[in-house]
Amino acid sequence: MTTETTPLYQTLAHELRDAMNDGRLSAGARLPSVREAARSRGLSINTVLAAYRQLEARGLVEARPQSGYFVRSRLAAPFAAKPVSRTVEPGPIEPAVLDRIAAVVAAQADTDHVDLSLACPKGGDFYPAARLARVVADTARRYPQLIGDYSLPPGSSRLRREIARHAQALGLTLEPDTIVLTNGCMEALQFALRTVTRRGDAVAMESPTYFNLIPLAKRLGLQIIELPTHPERGMSLDALEMLLSEQRVKAVVCMPDVHNPLGTSMPLASKRRLAALAAEYRVPVIEDALYAELQYATPLQPAVKSFDRDGWVMLCASYTKTLAPGFRIGWMEAGRFHREVADLKFCSSVAQPAVLCEALGTFLEDGGYTQHLRRLRRLYAAQIDRLRGVIDEVFPAGTLATEPTGGFLLWVELPEGCDANRLFDAALARGISITPGTLFSPSGRYDRNLRLSGCYPFSDRHIHALATLGELAGAQLERA
Ligand SMILES: Cc1ncc(COP(=O)(O)O)c(C=O)c1O
Repeated sequence: MTTETTPLYQTLAHELRDAMNDGRLSAGARLPSVREAARSRGLSINTVLAAYRQLEARGLVEARPQSGYFVRSRLAAPFAAKPVSRTVEPGPIEPAVLDRIAAVVAAQADTDHVDLSLACPKGGDFYPAARLARVVADTARRYPQLIGDYSLPPGSSRLRREIARHAQALGLTLEPDTIVLTNGCMEALQFALRTVTRRGDAVAMESPTYFNLIPLAKRLGLQIIELPTHPERGMSLDALEMLLSEQRVKAVVCMPDVHNPLGTSMPLASKRRLAALAAEYRVPVIEDALYAELQYATPLQPAVKSFDRDGWVMLCASYTKTLAPGFRIGWMEAGRFHREVADLKFCSSVAQPAVLCEALGTFLEDGGYTQHLRRLRRLYAAQIDRLRGVIDEVFPAGTLATEPTGGFLLWVELPEGCDANRLFDAALARGISITPGTLFSPSGRYDRNLRLSGCYPFSDRHIHALATLGELAGAQLERA
């Protein structure tokens, strides 16, 4: 309640809180800038700041560097990790999981569907496609020999130099000579696994994990040991240490920053410990840093590899999520395994297309990339807030969702009684594609979870599709 003696800042805070409660200010909305609010209300800047800080202290809004204050969603975050047990056994990869992956990928490819599933930005807002097209045309005109010459490894020195330069933002000091260019991050992950494992070996992976690692492991004849992974604490390093001390895994695959599907990152202290465990037990860590540059907060948290002194961390990344999925340009720095990885690249696919590599190198050199990333971070943070806000409104009570630290993916946990696989089928019948949680575990866990993406311009179609999903989940609950 506000009285005549209530300080001005509290009156303002109450007013804003009321607007949040009755929906005039929804989750993800940006509060007017401090200066703007002060001017329009005839208040001092300090009064407005005090009001905003009070709302922030109560968890109602959050401050984003250089962007302002945003209304937070009140969805709680799920705590999906199970307690550590001594019985983390490698299980068979469930054939049903592989079938589900194929079904989801087919649904993603159907352009008629409202796509809430694909983890790849859609639309001109997210990529500087026109600028890149000009650089490609210019590169082809200036260096036509790049088309006529045979592309040989290690490929464009300009691109490798630029990759090393931008990697400094992740705390990495890399030599361009030890960067291997790959066909996307997927090829890098494959090379890493093929270099350090043999058929029949077991590898440790986060659970949930990026779903395409599951068919890859199957192809390579590997067993997967699922490590409990917490949205905020990251993978259980106690469970990992137990496995390492028993020499049960040949490699660890992880996404420490902006995990797919969780959207969250591992704390810094855990990254340090993971690098130390790799060195102590002499086991390679395959670090998938694909989304690391999309962390919302800057300066970026350093990669696990930045703590690697003996070359046990193999870092894999690409420009698929930040610049140009169509280029299929990825890269890896394989530490002590560099020579074997470079050989594997040569006998697998020789090199990457020279014109595209040179064009990408030129783009990275020009300085546009840093600004582009800055813009993307703000955009995705707002997209995810909006998505969380809509889910908060239209999904059944008791739904949980992670609070991503970057990127455009959200991991949702539906209330007991819901079934994500059935929800996928029902949604697909209504022209909506989603990604059920069961895809992200070789044993088909997470049957109440969904991964939803927020990398498209929100339209009424998307909001309507989310509302339909909420209704379908609600109907499942009623039947249960
Ligand atoms: C975590 C993760 N790693 C690797 C990949 C594959 O990346 P690319 O398309 O660059 O091969 C993806 C693609 O979605 C991904 O999400």
